Amino acid sequence: MRILVTGGAGYIGSHTVKWLLANGHQVTVYDNLSLGHRAAVPAEILVEGDLKDVDHLDQVLVGHQIDSVIHFAANSLVGESVTHPAKYYQNNLLNSLNLLERVRRHGIQRFVFSSTCATYGVPDAVPITEAQTQLPINPYGNTKLAFEKMLSDYAPAYNIGFAALRYFNASGASPDGTIGEDHTPESHLIPIVLQVALGKRPHVEIFGTDYPTPDGTCIRDYIHVDDLASAHLLALEKIVPGMGRFYNVGIGNGYSVREVIQTVEAVTGKKIAVKEGPRRAGDPPSLVAGSDLVRKELGWKPNYTELRSIVESAWNWHKKHPTGYAK
Ligand code: UFG
Repeated sequence: MRILVTGGAGYIGSHTVKWLLANGHQVTVYDNLSLGHRAAVPAEILVEGDLKDVDHLDQVLVGHQIDSVIHFAANSLVGESVTHPAKYYQNNLLNSLNLLERVRRHGIQRFVFSSTCATYGVPDAVPITEAQTQLPINPYGNTKLAFEKMLSDYAPAYNIGFAALRYFNASGASPDGTIGEDHTPESHLIPIVLQVALGKRPHVEIFGTDYPTPDGTCIRDYIHVDDLASAHLLALEKIVPGMGRFYNVGIGNGYSVREVIQTVEAVTGKKIAVKEGPRRAGDPPSLVAGSDLVRKELGWKPNYTELRSIVESAWNWHKKHPTGYAK
């Protein structure tokens, strides 16, 4: 396939690009490098561009004879989406619509969208199945859900096939240590705890210790970024024009914030200083994937089923790149 990967220089995007290349696909990365890293993808496949620039997008789609699109480019910080919703509606919804319009006009029939478990809001029940009510509790989730709906309306009308992958907590890094997680500022739990282990932060703050969970801290389903990557290719291969599918992509194991910190201590051999703080706005107590559908329909099987191995791969990246990419 000749695949355009928007946001391909970002964290999940770059790991997926690596996976696609390793599986023999022709990949063009379209990224404005506002959040992505030049060093995260081979220079020869990177096109610097913005989804606002539809003329440029047209040129790239035609020039590279694109037949499939994987769309990662987005903002994804829950807290920021609450304080700056305009940015999220512009980037995650309007720019995504630009892309979808170009896909329609060029007759591209395969589209994979990076959606999120944040579309469920506070879930009716855990593990979460795809059939559960989607009621986001923040603008980030609203924009992702709105684009899922756009896709659902476009697909039958314009014969576009799509898969929307609802990710749980992407984590870990490529086992060869060449690419990994590097956000500025960093807000995700595992990299923050690893930065404490590296002596780059004095402590980690636990956001809330009074949740209705066994140890009072939030529970999340951490999935290795390479296992997310493989799901994208499987989804792309199974797409049927005119039809859309939605899949939760998580392991199905929940770990609390305290368990993550303990795992980092075990992997790194360092004692992690902890400060207990108040809840962070917009955090549901527990998000764990029911992932039977992706396993059954796509034949997806994660390689990393234990948090420890995920943290080991992240630690390998952080030790080798203590200040991230190209610094
Ligand atoms: N946490 C802390 N301290 C920190 C950072 C995080 O206690 O310094 C806690 C959070 O409160 C949360 C858990 O650790 O309970 C995981 O937080 P992350 O920020 O690592 O991940 P989130 O679950 O908030 O976010 C992830 C994705 C988002 C997506 C969201 C859906 O990164 O893109 O899941 O809920 F929107």
